[in-house]
Amino acid sequence: MKVRTFLVAVGLTAVFESASAISPPVEVTPMEEKARQCSACHGGNGISINALWPNLAGQKEGYLVKQLKDFRAGKRKDPLMAPIIKSMSDTDIAEFAAYFSSLKPSPAK
Ligand code: HEC
Repeated sequence: MKVRTFLVAVGLTAVFESASAISPPVEVTPMEEKARQCSACHGGNGISINALWPNLAGQKEGYLVKQLKDFRAGKRKDPLMAPIIKSMSDTDIAEFAAYFSSLKPSPAK
């Protein structure tokens, strides 16, 4: 019996391995890749996972640009955003704002 269990386990492992080998790779756009640096706090889909970090998904693009520029200029301060924003160019800011505003906002509760 034990041998049979082992063989079944080996068989299943083989099936799972071949299934993952043939499944297509998940498509990640360059912008999704770039936005990974934000996802720890703002969520992978722009919906934050806690009460103190804002959702970005579906927010107005112009508002996001302004907030990021304010952070960069030191007019708006936050210890978590400060190290992130330091190295952002105007292009980065425009791209992040367009990307997050294009995401679906969280459903109304
Ligand atoms: C370590 C956590 C952390 C990371 C990583 C992070 N943020 Fe933030 N972000 C915050 C917090 C916290 C706030 C809210 C600050 C406050 O209370 O004023 C914020 C605020 C913002 C706001 C203003 C939102 C609003 O509604 O006013 C924008 C825009 C933003 N972040 C964009 C980004 C982008 C783009 C990235 C990735 C490049 C990023 N953040 C990465 C923590 C983070």
